[in-house]
Amino acid sequence: MNDLDGKHIVLGLTGGIACYKSAELCRALTKAGATVQVVMTAAAEQFITPITMQALSQRVVYGSQWDAREPNNMPHINLSREADAILIAPCSADFMARLVQGRADELLSLLCLARPLETVPLLIAPAMNREMWAHPATQRNLKQLELDGATVFGVGQGDQACGETGDGRMLEPQELLLDVISFFQPKVLKGHHVLVTAGPTYEAIDPVRGITNLSSGKMGFAIACAAREAGADVTLVAGPVGLPTPRGVNRVDIKSARDMLSAVQTHVDRATIFVATAAVADWRTGNAADQKIKKDGSGATPVLSFVENPDILAAVAQSPRGQSGALFCVGFAAESHDLLANAQAKRLRKGVPLLVGNIGPATFGQDDNALLLVDADGTQEMARASKLSLARKLIASIATRTRASAQN
Ligand code: C5P
Repeated sequence: MNDLDGKHIVLGLTGGIACYKSAELCRALTKAGATVQVVMTAAAEQFITPITMQALSQRVVYGSQWDAREPNNMPHINLSREADAILIAPCSADFMARLVQGRADELLSLLCLARPLETVPLLIAPAMNREMWAHPATQRNLKQLELDGATVFGVGQGDQACGETGDGRMLEPQELLLDVISFFQPKVLKGHHVLVTAGPTYEAIDPVRGITNLSSGKMGFAIACAAREAGADVTLVAGPVGLPTPRGVNRVDIKSARDMLSAVQTHVDRATIFVATAAVADWRTGNAADQKIKKDGSGATPVLSFVENPDILAAVAQSPRGQSGALFCVGFAAESHDLLANAQAKRLRKGVPLLVGNIGPATFGQDDNALLLVDADGTQEMARASKLSLARKLIASIATRTRASAQN
């Protein structure tokens, strides 16, 4: 199952050097399962040929409202009615102005105007020189496009083809792909702030050695991504992992359990949902050395003592907001056996409304997982699937629960 299976996207190209990125974007969209119908303005054809876009989309490219290939001679109607979304990438300053004015003298602006507003969303990836982007006329047009119901994906920052540096680059194809995928996810957590912990913690023995565990952080990162896709503001407190930050997520990197606790305390007051997926070390060394412990050749081994770490989830769940339900807390349990019994016991011990069990050795480092949701009413199994698709289901389930508890 691909993220864009069944989606049909009209990809509109307008005049800009970023058209070279649209070739890659077209490929990325089709790889993700979408069918793509490319429509190009005359200016776009100055930058990249329709042949290239036809080869990548496997469909004839349209460029004129007078194209007689459509039996009814109305490409602007036919193309817009078939689409699940129209994505203009790159969208030039001129094309933004045309959209704002409702111009209809060439195919792409004509079909944007002719699209059914309720069912065919318009997505815009602007691309232009930084002065053009910053100009009050462009910023005014951008606001008007949003008021008219378009989704504007924003711009990147950096070196521009003109030699200047600043805002206005088109987002990279992979970023746009993620924005399109995210756009299609139901916005079930709009207005929520979700705080997620993920990954292992690292407890120092001395400045060069420490104790950690095999958690990859992938499940927690997938949950942060799914929460963001669902429209929430998301803060991700991450232990030492090499994973890229999910798009649009505010990430706080920490090392030890005590760092994680203080990062959580900093952000938890704003949160309405707390999901603790981190594999927090149960103990830290009680006698961590300030300097590297040296081997002295005598065969003597260092003696480590241990101190129990704070239980972050239990502390948050037992706080007044956790207790009142203003903050919905979700715990995870990575077990090696007796998943149901262990998860049920852990839910009560931590004092959380929802505990999610998984088999640790079967999921650590993997891209897929299987979940067992345990709450006061019973259990629900989520069969083995990718961590992102499980995360989306879990987020939907959390959204239903928070809606229900808000009504009580
Ligand atoms: O007690 P155990 O580590 O099995 O509990 C797992 C759950 O508690 C996870 O949600 C984990 O993130 C959280 N936890 C925590 N702080 C700890 C230990 C676990 O937040 N010190």
